Amino acid sequence: MKKFEIKTTFTVYENEGELSVEDKKLLKMAREAATRAYASYSRFQVGAALLLDNGEIVTGSNQENCAYPSGLCAERTTAFYASSRYPNVPFKKLVVTAINPSKKLTSPVPPCGACRQVLSEYEQKGGMPMIVMMAGEEGEIWQVESVADLLPLSFSGDYLPED
Ligand code: THU
Repeated sequence: MKKFEIKTTFTVYENEGELSVEDKKLLKMAREAATRAYASYSRFQVGAALLLDNGEIVTGSNQENCAYPSGLCAERTTAFYASSRYPNVPFKKLVVTAINPSKKLTSPVPPCGACRQVLSEYEQKGGMPMIVMMAGEEGEIWQVESVADLLPLSFSGDYLPED
């Protein structure tokens, strides 16, 4: 029997002021996208801005439904739209943020497990690391250099039967 340890690394920015001009723009777009969430049930508004390898930026927000599981997170709304609109263009950088109307978010909002799985597949399909930046309404901003840092030991289509 052997035991293995998996380590992950991420960058912590003290606040928005430390971000590059490009990252500030993406975060602003993600914040604007969050205001367009359809979050009537949770009231938790999530926004994402995704920079593609062709320079296009796609934004999206969470979309809820009275049949709760039918709704979709902002990250997947954005990724699915980007892949539909620009098939086969790799995803370079995803910025995610949220608004909690009852309590200001003072720490970053990391993507849920299901979104990590979806992002992981697009990262592998794109053949390049996708940076993921996570921000609250204020305070620190976290960044991983790859979805693999958020989802070690990920499942992939490589495990599926070949025919
Ligand atoms: N949500 C996201 O959009 N992204 C996440 O990573 C976590 C959760 C949404 C789903 C739901 O509309 C609301 O936030 C509350 O869970």
